Amino acid sequence: MSAHEKTQEYQRLDAAHYLHPFTDARALAGKARVIARAEGVYLWDSDGNKLLDAMSGLWCVNAGYGREEIAEAVAEQLARLPYYNSFFQCATPPAIELAAELARVSPPGFNRAFFTTSGSEAIDTVVRVIRRYWQLRGEPKRVNIIARENAYHGSTVAGMSLGGMAIMHEQGGPPMPGVARIRQPKWFGEGDAEAQTPEEFGAIAARALAEKIDELGAETVAAFIGEPVQGAGGVVVPPPNYWNAVQQICDEHSVPIVADEVICAFGRTGAWFGSETFGIRPKLMPVAKALTSGYLPMGGVLLHDDIADVLAEGGEFAHGYTYSGHPVCAAAALANLKILREEKLIERARDDIGPYLQKQWQTLADHPLVGETRGVGMLAALEIAQKNNNGNSKNDNDKNNNKNNRRFQCDPPAGIQCRELCAANGLVMRAVGDTMIIAPPLTITRAEVDELINKARQSLNDLASRL
Ligand SMILES: Cc1ncc(COP(=O)(O)O)c(C=O)c1O
Repeated sequence: MSAHEKTQEYQRLDAAHYLHPFTDARALAGKARVIARAEGVYLWDSDGNKLLDAMSGLWCVNAGYGREEIAEAVAEQLARLPYYNSFFQCATPPAIELAAELARVSPPGFNRAFFTTSGSEAIDTVVRVIRRYWQLRGEPKRVNIIARENAYHGSTVAGMSLGGMAIMHEQGGPPMPGVARIRQPKWFGEGDAEAQTPEEFGAIAARALAEKIDELGAETVAAFIGEPVQGAGGVVVPPPNYWNAVQQICDEHSVPIVADEVICAFGRTGAWFGSETFGIRPKLMPVAKALTSGYLPMGGVLLHDDIADVLAEGGEFAHGYTYSGHPVCAAAALANLKILREEKLIERARDDIGPYLQKQWQTLADHPLVGETRGVGMLAALEIAQKNNNGNSKNDNDKNNNKNNRRFQCDPPAGIQCRELCAANGLVMRAVGDTMIIAPPLTITRAEVDELINKARQSLNDLASRL
């Protein structure tokens, strides 16, 4: 059987049997791209096509593909102790060592970790922890969690409910009670470039939190949750004053901040945690993804002593998963964190490759199809839009437009077309509506960044000739 015949066989079986996450099965219709192997920043599909993976899988593979050290640590742990739980006063060496290692790399005051298998489970854990905390503090009415529009916090019922993705709410039945929603700090399309500075907009977006706390009554608010940079919402980098203002509001009302670090942690923003990049002082940090660089599924919640000490004094905390602290996943995480630390990949993201990526990415801003570029560290986005230099757009009230840019009206949407053109040009970029986003491995070289930018520009040119 030739490689292509094998691919066709995979596609047939895939269409018949495999229900994909977040996928329209009719649109997929036997066309699945089958990714067969990977090395460094590159993927190969089952037809042998090579792709530069500018998304690190799904924001996971910070250490890059093909790390023998992680594979060996996993094999060794599988042979020694493939599984044991942390219930009933037991633990395993890798889970203990990982909790201690996370305490070492976390901001001051974060000394304990609770382990899960995914980011979504970490978010569910946040809900259990924060409500239990307030109960133990003698304020059981504090159950409401304030979250933002266009946030992504996972796909379990709690994750979907805290997330601000309308399509998930429509399909998921009634969301969990006790969630309140405020606007997101997204300048492109929601800020008014003619009447405001980004900082004025940032202050308004933060004020929405104060207003919501007042509306609910601070005595009912358990927490505010936000991603330091909204990832799946389209790499929404908030105006520089936004998080300071949010922190101040939360301090004034004794509302703990939950920084959802599932994407931002482990170097993505050029620091160990996105909270450090933006000066946030959270009390809980859910993590996942790059904890193991995606090599095995693992997440967790890092707890500040202010919360952990109260929980520890409260008797049994009736929460946990069969795979909490799975020893093999923990071994993968330890090997991964060692790579990040010893190769100084986080410092490199902050001082060297991150600034280079941002500088090169900005060169795309002049492209006729690009309404805005933005980014921080190893995260970046661009907005595909029709530039309208004559002043007001026809759709000023449409949140997807702003005064100088209009979205293309086409089918398939411009973002999807761009994503497909990128793939044809050997590049994996993700489309969020008409926002194109990247989050490459932290190991990417300058030459590979240049290749990424060239392929992105080529794909935009190809798109321009189609639209
Ligand atoms: C910020 C954020 N939180 C939570 C999650 C959920 O993580 P998982 O898909 O591992 O359940 C994601 C996933 O993309 C995420 O981006």
